[in-house]
Amino acid sequence: GWWPLTMEKGCSQYTRVWIPDPDEVWRSAELTKDYKEGEKSLQLKLEDETIREYPVDAQNNQLPFLRNPDILVGENDLTALSYLHEPAVLHNLKVRFLESNHIYTYCGIVLVAINPYEQLPIYGQDVIYAYSGQNMGDMDPHIFAVAEEAYKQMARDEKNQSIIVSGESGAGKTVSAKYAMRYFATVGGSASETNIEEKVLASSPIMEAIGNAKTTRNDNSSRFGKYIQIGFDKRYHIIGANMRTYLLEKSRVVFQADDERNYHIFYQLCAAASLPEFKELALTCAEDFFYTSQGGDTAIEGVDDAEDFEKTRQAFTLLGVRESHQISIFKIIASILHLGSVEIQAERDGDSCSISPQDEHLSNFCRLLGVEHNQMEHWLCHRKLVTTSETYVKTMSLQQVINARNALAKHIYAQLFGWIVEHINKALHTSIKQHSFIGVLDIYGFETFEVNSFEQFCINYANEKLQQQFNLHVFKLEQEEYMKEQIPWTLIDFYDNQPCIDLIEAKLGILDLLDEECKVPKGTDQNWAQKLYDRHSSSQHFQKPRMSNTAFIVVHFADKVEYLSDGFLEKNRDTVYEEQINILKASKFPLVADLFRDDKDPIPATTTSGKGSSSKINIRSARPPMKASNKEHKKSVGHQVSSSTQQIVKILNLYTPLNEFEERVTVSFIRTIQAQLQERNDPQQLLLDSKHMFPVLFPFNPSSLTMDSIHIPACLSLEFLNEV
Ligand SMILES: Nc1ncnc2c1ncn2[C@@H]1O[C@H](COP(=O)(O)OP(=O)(O)OP(=O)(O)O)[C@@H](O)[C@H]1O
Ligand SMILES: *[C@@H]1O[C@H](CO)[C@@H](O)[C@H](O)[C@H]1NC(C)=O
Ligand SMILES: *[C@@H]1O[C@H](CO)[C@@H](O)[C@H](O)[C@H]1NC(C)=O
Ligand SMILES: [Mg+2]
Repeated sequence: GWWPLTMEKGCSQYTRVWIPDPDEVWRSAELTKDYKEGEKSLQLKLEDETIREYPVDAQNNQLPFLRNPDILVGENDLTALSYLHEPAVLHNLKVRFLESNHIYTYCGIVLVAINPYEQLPIYGQDVIYAYSGQNMGDMDPHIFAVAEEAYKQMARDEKNQSIIVSGESGAGKTVSAKYAMRYFATVGGSASETNIEEKVLASSPIMEAIGNAKTTRNDNSSRFGKYIQIGFDKRYHIIGANMRTYLLEKSRVVFQADDERNYHIFYQLCAAASLPEFKELALTCAEDFFYTSQGGDTAIEGVDDAEDFEKTRQAFTLLGVRESHQISIFKIIASILHLGSVEIQAERDGDSCSISPQDEHLSNFCRLLGVEHNQMEHWLCHRKLVTTSETYVKTMSLQQVINARNALAKHIYAQLFGWIVEHINKALHTSIKQHSFIGVLDIYGFETFEVNSFEQFCINYANEKLQQQFNLHVFKLEQEEYMKEQIPWTLIDFYDNQPCIDLIEAKLGILDLLDEECKVPKGTDQNWAQKLYDRHSSSQHFQKPRMSNTAFIVVHFADKVEYLSDGFLEKNRDTVYEEQINILKASKFPLVADLFRDDKDPIPATTTSGKGSSSKINIRSARPPMKASNKEHKKSVGHQVSSSTQQIVKILNLYTPLNEFEERVTVSFIRTIQAQLQERNDPQQLLLDSKHMFPVLFPFNPSSLTMDSIHIPACLSLEFLNEV
């Protein structure tokens, strides 16, 4: 959301502007004659000399964005630009990148990065040392400069820090987060025997193997959110780390869209299938398994899965996961592939199914997990129904069996994911008292695909919540501050995404109606969509596509996204049948039994406060207690999303306190502007122009906001503010 620059008083010949263009997004143009207020169009000349008449939006009298003077273009801080709006930002980034190969640019204290999609020689140890100890303003913008700033503020000002990496899928968040961590490992390395900083770095390849996958947007897309906190001692040496994960995309375990893959680890394991130690996994190539072949091509150009698997194993070893445990992990992963390829036959009656006792995949699944074959075969195709008077066993239709089988596979994977995270945390834990920390949050980016489903809905909802944090910190709180100080303000017209969040999470919102529909015995995706239309069509953030009765559109802060309702109910229910879980609980392998232990069963005290994405998370209050009958693992995913993002929000709130300094600066800043406005007796013009300074200041750590980072456009004649 950018604010258009309105030039109510007209503008003169030779003024340079940006106009929107369907192909090039923005094109530069120049006024060929003066424009006076009220005229219906502008006379423009484009850079290729073509002349164009540009209609002026009569209602708002809205004129195009002004172009910055060339002398400012290429600045390494966007806030130095006179005019700060979308075309100005894009042009500046483009010039820096194309003309000097600079991928980093500041915007105040925010670092903006362009993904170069090629290895640049700017990340070596020598570069780390060059940035170490320097001031942010003295060096070229760089992720290392941001990391240094965090490190310095922690050490000098005794403040815990968090770095938040945000952006669309494929933007380079995970790569940036890894560079930041490498920086801390280098400058905070203790050179002691423990190698703790190496262990912290070793967590990355493991998490990428089990939590990253190829999507159409990114070959290495993180399908979970991660917040890693690096702990330091009094001398600011790394002593340990702790990681929390959020919202693992479980559906990928059982389904991949065209051109996408399941989690890397599955392909890595298949690529290593012929190694003698993996004979017992009974794996072949990834094309042979249903869960790894739905997306088509199972290979990624430039990626050697067998080689990456070696890295995964080395990382496990470095973290102290012993060989036998590693084999156990790989057995569980292989078992999921076998489960997905079990052949289920529908009986003629249409209401029941069977699995051949000779089914190799089922045998492998049971053998690898150490569970009873006959039991498993039976309970894959049947379910127990408990009424008040009796318990009976019911057969299931083919679709029901497949759904239940898929839910089981997802559950196994998610439990294993959580288990691995817990073990990484144990390996990174230290008993030494942590003096301070730096956190790095790498969340999945906002995404929209050709077809968007429940997963995109969850991810985008989480991003919506994150965006709210930006807004809250930068705009809302500031404005509340002005109100408290009784400063008259009309200045900032911030984009408040609370209405969109309400649409999703409020009572009778999208998630609530989804939960309701899941409880209705004959609930369907389509009925749910209908209820959404009935209830929300008047909402600004909700639309019904004209040509569909099953899709709905949410107008997110970043984009309009059309979601297909098909499968939402099933994915939200995520029903895993108790009988199947009970069989796994009875596994003769301790690790497998351990994975499925209920929360109420005693759990050895863990040292970590955070829980993996798959751990049970308290569901939003007010859920009716489940009937004891027909016990299924019921926790609607939608509400896990809610509580997961709630946790992220809590973290952000905790570690980015509004700093006194900022309040002082911004309040006096506004106050002085107000005085100027009255003096000049020309409020409107100023208000409109000064808006442009604000939308782009997104300080996550407001303490580093200085007057220098608030640039005041010359046209405002407010230079005196620099002295505030
Ligand atoms: N600084 C960089 N230098 C070179 N290549 C980069 C850089 N940043 C990103 N890339 C390339 O872009 C790819 C995608 O980056 P990355 O995986 O970090 O995206 P992401 O923002 O984490 O996306 P997602 O939300 O899907 O996880 C990387 O695999 C890498 O090839
Ligand atoms: C993902 O990134 C890791 C580390 O950068 C790399 O080793 C691996 O090959 C990448 N995998 C894919 C599938 O691109
Ligand atoms: C930083 O975090 C540590 C815990 O890791 C805590 O003990 C310390 O008090 C925090 N410091 C500040 C200044 O909040
Ligand atoms: Mg990522």
